[in-house]
Amino acid sequence: MDSRTEASITIDAPITREDPDTLRNIVKTGLLGNPRTLPSKLFYDERGSTLFEQICELPEYYQTRTEHKLLATWADEIIALSGAEELVELGSGAATKTRMLLDAMERADQLRYFVPFDVDESIVRRVSEELAQEYPGIQIHGVVGDFLVHLEHIPEGGKRLVVILGGTIGNLPTIPAEEFLTTVNAEMASEDFFLLGLQLITDPRRLEAAYNDQQGITAKFNKNILRVLRNQLGAQCDSDNFDHVARYNPDAHRIEMWLRSSQDQTINIPDLALSVAIKKNEEIRTELSTKYDRPLAENLLATSGFELVKWYTDRDQLIGLALARKP
Ligand code: AVJ
Repeated sequence: MDSRTEASITIDAPITREDPDTLRNIVKTGLLGNPRTLPSKLFYDERGSTLFEQICELPEYYQTRTEHKLLATWADEIIALSGAEELVELGSGAATKTRMLLDAMERADQLRYFVPFDVDESIVRRVSEELAQEYPGIQIHGVVGDFLVHLEHIPEGGKRLVVILGGTIGNLPTIPAEEFLTTVNAEMASEDFFLLGLQLITDPRRLEAAYNDQQGITAKFNKNILRVLRNQLGAQCDSDNFDHVARYNPDAHRIEMWLRSSQDQTINIPDLALSVAIKKNEEIRTELSTKYDRPLAENLLATSGFELVKWYTDRDQLIGLALARKP
């Protein structure tokens, strides 16, 4: 085989070197807070990533399909406008939609480097292996990390297009989202481009249905956070004692997922010397999923130092894709 066509894979896992105290502190502060919360990144162990992939296929979950179509339509233009040779994806997951962008880069003969960045090590490894097979000659540098903490581990490999798809940014409240994107902006060179996929504000019934699917996959996904809490922190708790709740908060234009206690119970985490008494019907918030409209999106980008180059949306305005750059 010609050496030029050989793909290479490197994996950097700064999260495995992360101070375990940080996670403990976040969990402790969250469970003692008002409202009680758990960090959404805890959803994503191998089982959580798989459950999320199943969510993406659900009839009620229109988001993935819609963004997929948008990318299929506009990927060539996005790649041409950006001129990128390196694709960096923050929260890459199974990287299904990403392939649309990689294909466009390959067609334009611009594909050199892909950086999948995700909190779940198993999925970064799997995706890296798959893509090395699919794209001859590609260089892959996976990063297993928390993108709020480990952004500096993104390597340089050419002119970059940094992407955050799937509405992942919606997991953060408005101000932290602005702060995070400001950090992303600071990591980028002046000629790099940024592509942000946003879920748009729409009919609350449609939104709530997308998080309360008939098959109960989202409920399993929500409860998986307690399994990860048991596995990673030795928590003593039973997911059967909680019910899945997802509702739209119109004031904050976001879906909120909660675990509602079906009885009086105690979550014990001996390692943290933590014992949290939870009453029947008390709720723990596990996820925010903020929805945007175009003005909110433009404001988010401007506040974090970006200039909008082009806004793409589907006919029903369910998903927005914002292509942006540094001014
Ligand atoms: C991966 C955060 C974009 O908020 O829609 C899907 C996660 N949670 N169903 C979303 C999720 C429940 C998803 N994001």
